Amino acid sequence: MYTAGAWPQNRRITISDLQAATDRGERWSMLTSYDVLTAGIFEQAGVRALLVGDTSAELVLGHDSTLPVTMDQLITMVRAVVAGTRTALVVADLPFGAYQAGPEVAFANAVRHLKEGGAQAVKLEGGRRVLPQVRTLTAAGIPVMGHLGLTPQSVNVLGGMRRVQGRGDAGEELLADARALEQAGAFAVVLESVPAELGGRVSGALRIPTVGIGAGPLCDAQILVWQDMAGLTSGRLPRFVKQYADLHGELLAAASRYVGEVADGSYPDQVHSYA
Ligand code: KIV
Repeated sequence: MYTAGAWPQNRRITISDLQAATDRGERWSMLTSYDVLTAGIFEQAGVRALLVGDTSAELVLGHDSTLPVTMDQLITMVRAVVAGTRTALVVADLPFGAYQAGPEVAFANAVRHLKEGGAQAVKLEGGRRVLPQVRTLTAAGIPVMGHLGLTPQSVNVLGGMRRVQGRGDAGEELLADARALEQAGAFAVVLESVPAELGGRVSGALRIPTVGIGAGPLCDAQILVWQDMAGLTSGRLPRFVKQYADLHGELLAAASRYVGEVADGSYPDQVHSYA
């Protein structure tokens, strides 16, 4: 099991622990998680923070974008992830529609994630346009993680999910957004699908940690969607996805063997039956 640095063993990791790790130059990992069992496994592996992301709309609920997942659905998953962990910091995504209208609605929904879900922080997408929300939440003691670059909740204005963001002049805009989020009190910023050079530039410009997903090796931390990381998803995946296992193949083989053994009568055998 990977261990490094001085991470708490008997309490939840806080945003100060994440900042301290970044300050001492230690890179740390995040994964998404939406359920009790994977949450526990990832924490045991040394993943310091778990994101209950709106990607659950696609990967858990079967929608074709992140937009449909609701606060109630996410809160159920946040509770499960909190229940499965003791030390990992749990970040709950604010889904589409839960914060865009302004600070008041953002505050009400963020409070639900902390009170009903038990999360320690929330994440929202966008830069300068969501600063009032970020200021309101952080002033109320709710840690906020920003999200820049490819922001899937804006799929309909981005004109589809074109992958790489922040090329050319857009890079300067993204840097300005990142600085503004830091100033408004965000404790970290996710950078999704941006050139590695820009990932490095933003990381160098900010004191708070950058969490890269397709943003190159110079970010302070990395995050992947767990089903991508573990090879449960298949087909055409973004270039930045590295699959560390073949869960799709493993599960398919296991389920096929089970089906075969039920069909040929070899399961259940005596060992798996009550005398
Ligand atoms: O919702 C999510 O899973 C995310 C990650 C892709 C960063 O926002």
